[in-house]
Amino acid sequence: MPDTTLAADQKSGPRKILVTSALPYANGSIHLGHLVEYIQTDIWVRYQKARGHECYYVCADDAHGTAIMLKAEELGITPEALIEQVKAEHEKDFADFLIRFDNYHSTHAEENRVFANEIYRRLKNNGHIAEREITQAFDPEKNLFLADRYIKGTCPKCKADDQYGDNCEACGATYAPTDLLNPKSAISGATPIEKKSTHYFFKLPEFESFLKEWTRAGHVSKEIANKLAEWLDAGLQEWDISRDAPYFGFEIPDAPGKYFYVWLDAPIGYMASFKNLCEREGIDFDTFWAKDSTAELYHFIGKDIVNFHALFWPAMLTSANYRTPNKVCVHGFLTVNGKKMSKSRGTFINARNYLNFLEPEYLRYYFAAKLSSSVEDLDLNLDDFIQRVNSDVVGKVVNIASRCAKFVTRDGDATLAGDIAEPALWQQAVDAGETIAQHYENRDFGKAVREIMAVADAANEYIAAKEPWKLAKQEGAEAEVQAVCSLGINLFRALMIYLKPILPNMAEQASVFLNDDLVWADTIEPLLKHRIEVFKPMVKRVEKDKVAAMVEAGIQAQPAQQTPQEDAAAPTTPLAVEPLAPEITFDDFIKVDLRVARIVAASHVEGASKLLQLTLDIGGETRNVFSGIKSSYQPEQLEGRLTVMVANLAARKMRFGMSEGMVLAAGDDEGIYLLEPDSGAQPGQRVT
Ligand code: 2FM
Ligand code: ZN
Repeated sequence: MPDTTLAADQKSGPRKILVTSALPYANGSIHLGHLVEYIQTDIWVRYQKARGHECYYVCADDAHGTAIMLKAEELGITPEALIEQVKAEHEKDFADFLIRFDNYHSTHAEENRVFANEIYRRLKNNGHIAEREITQAFDPEKNLFLADRYIKGTCPKCKADDQYGDNCEACGATYAPTDLLNPKSAISGATPIEKKSTHYFFKLPEFESFLKEWTRAGHVSKEIANKLAEWLDAGLQEWDISRDAPYFGFEIPDAPGKYFYVWLDAPIGYMASFKNLCEREGIDFDTFWAKDSTAELYHFIGKDIVNFHALFWPAMLTSANYRTPNKVCVHGFLTVNGKKMSKSRGTFINARNYLNFLEPEYLRYYFAAKLSSSVEDLDLNLDDFIQRVNSDVVGKVVNIASRCAKFVTRDGDATLAGDIAEPALWQQAVDAGETIAQHYENRDFGKAVREIMAVADAANEYIAAKEPWKLAKQEGAEAEVQAVCSLGINLFRALMIYLKPILPNMAEQASVFLNDDLVWADTIEPLLKHRIEVFKPMVKRVEKDKVAAMVEAGIQAQPAQQTPQEDAAAPTTPLAVEPLAPEITFDDFIKVDLRVARIVAASHVEGASKLLQLTLDIGGETRNVFSGIKSSYQPEQLEGRLTVMVANLAARKMRFGMSEGMVLAAGDDEGIYLLEPDSGAQPGQRVT
């Protein structure tokens, strides 16, 4: 949704803007999935700063909760030591990706305790806290109440073992932990018992009409507002904001042994981090957070935590008499090569693994080129990544400077010409600035990048048409060569001004080369009769080998499974290797008649979401087989291929017809891989 109101405000002087990214949990490493958000936010903040606004970007580690407590225990250290170590690692990763926070704090900090207590006190005084006894699963060995994710057992529906307390990964059923068969604590293995305790609840339903209005008032995009409307229409529930000891967090005032649930003090951490900055730099906190604040507040988050930011948080802030956010900016998830990130494929890429092989700005550019204000997932296609960065950044932008620089140097003195050789071309580049600015403002970075590259294309066409390298060989053409190349360099400068929020390091080098601060003024004036420095290469091409080495390093590393965090989406679960089936004898095995089969025809099956219909030739005989491989194959990819089938499986009647056998494929939720014999095998040959 374009932000026309912001564009109007922009003309009336510097804005005061406070920006946050979601706080990463202090029990795991930063990976490229996280970086979509930090890079997106950082680009937006750098853009606002470049336009002269008073903009602050704060973040912190999300340090509380059971997962962090258990992880510390597993490592044999205190939670305080763990969160300190992780914070240092996170800060280094962010710095190396050129994410420039104004402050990076922790939710386990005194400012946060003070705000959490104060906000809770206000909610309570306003009658927005309820207190009642609830019954929960309890681990009698660890003396710990168990969140759903910490209970495992047999699925009541499909009887698959080792399923979590809230849903079955095998059949997709959802249920209450009490429905699990043979439930066990995932922490100690003990059988959970039921136990009562008093909990505190935030009375969210009392904010229903406020939230119905707030979510439709431009604070979230339309698609998010529609999603929220589903929840709002279904009716809001009171929100359990307390947890029993032992818990790593803040103890609730006047409630010994009760702690604030991690998700209560996490968003308050935005305020705490900002307060910490205010104290250090003498900024007025209330200007940004008071009820009547005219400063702007933006939260950048992923689509999995919208309820916390666009329901609970504005309701809490309203009750506690603080201002609410101008906008909650929601992005989608990262996929790599079109699929969910996967450790076994090496596409679950940690920030440090990436940095060990590649430059941060490659990723910043690629993400920017693909980011929009929508909640759509973003795909990092590694081949496209190499191609795009090389062709745009190296081939189009830096190339302008490298081709022109040597021709403006005369007798070792590199001074740009006194006028612009082609005013229309220059004007075009200057005018593009306004559209580019608008796209940045609206978080449509992909559109901004396309506009910038259009300017680069025009500059390259101009230089290619003028061929300064040929002119330079002609007697008496020195002035023209200097004029052409000076315009080229001015165009390069305009490009680097526009790209500076995305490529800050490269802009820094361009700044040295151009002897100029690359300020994004409302109207960019050209550099005339201006001395520049010797050109030095600013960026290397992305090397295919480095990308391959990074993927390989990811496969080799295969870190141990992380402790799940309560309520967190769990994109980090490694591939589960299925346990082996019970042993069989050779006689059992030999009963299975496996044959090489050629797929002579393949087609979609109307009404079937997973099946393809295959016609298989097994040497003079054809079989009709329905196979659940549709998610990974198009019919036309399959025709003509060899595979292996179970040829003596009794025919089965399916909804769509008879299935006369089965083809062999490996796979799981992430992909299906049809088995194929080496070339030379013939349809009908027995496979043993
Ligand atoms: O989902 C997460 O990773 C949370 N740690 C985000 C918290 S954002 C904010 F509310 F603190
Ligand atoms: Zn199941």
